[in-house]
Amino acid sequence: MPPGGSQVSTGVRCWGLIPAAGVGRRFGAEVPKQYLALAGRPVIDHAIGAFVAHPGIAGCAVVLGAEDGWWADVSAYAGHPRVLRAPGGAERCHSVRNGLEALAQRAADEDWVLVHDAARPCLRRTDLDRLLEALQDEPVGALLAVPIADTVKRADAGQVAETLPRSALWRAYTPQAFRLGLLRRALDHAATKDLIVTDDASAVELLGLRPALVECSADNIKITRPEDLPLAAFYLEQQRETPC
Ligand code: CTP
Ligand code: MG
Repeated sequence: MPPGGSQVSTGVRCWGLIPAAGVGRRFGAEVPKQYLALAGRPVIDHAIGAFVAHPGIAGCAVVLGAEDGWWADVSAYAGHPRVLRAPGGAERCHSVRNGLEALAQRAADEDWVLVHDAARPCLRRTDLDRLLEALQDEPVGALLAVPIADTVKRADAGQVAETLPRSALWRAYTPQAFRLGLLRRALDHAATKDLIVTDDASAVELLGLRPALVECSADNIKITRPEDLPLAAFYLEQQRETPC
């Protein structure tokens, strides 16, 4: 992998990390959802492509499950010189931890790592740029997120226990960007407490730190259930027609 990549500040590089070791249980297809076809290429290639195409990203680690029989056959990035592979773990947080280990062979502890779900194929270049911009002078790290539009209830035994103040609630999306050394320490800390964190920011928050929220387009959806795939196709078509 050539050195290159963006310099958020002198000598500091930015890397992508794509966890792709899930099996897509909620989606329920025979093939893990990241390998389903979407607008002419696999879902995962849309996610990786956003990073490989960006001149500010030095390289990318992709984390694959032990049973993965698809990557080499369907991804255009298999064998790509700026994409390295890492082995998956039992949960997303373990997969990310393994990806950091692989990146550490090339990246420094101070480098930024942008963790992005393989199942999020609609990331806009403008949102990636906005996140990279937010990392200038950012002491902790930052994640793309969207303010919640619906009124949110907390449930208790099928009844409303409380209506939460919506103005303070955001959906956490990816990429989520942290310095390699800090994220490794945060995930190790969560593991010592036997906590399974569902995003990278949660692990950093457990250290008492407060990552920045960077508002992004709501079309940066994660494909979770079957109805999400045609929605992603629609968003990609919209982006193609009105690029920004
Ligand atoms: N992921 C991973 N390693 C795991 C579990 C998930 O790398 N052990 C990845 C998935 O491949 C996905 C991202 O983390 O790109 C977000 O996870 P999710 O949407 O939950 O995907 P799955 O775990 O595959 O889906 P499900 O929970 O429905 O089984
Ligand atoms: Mg999952």
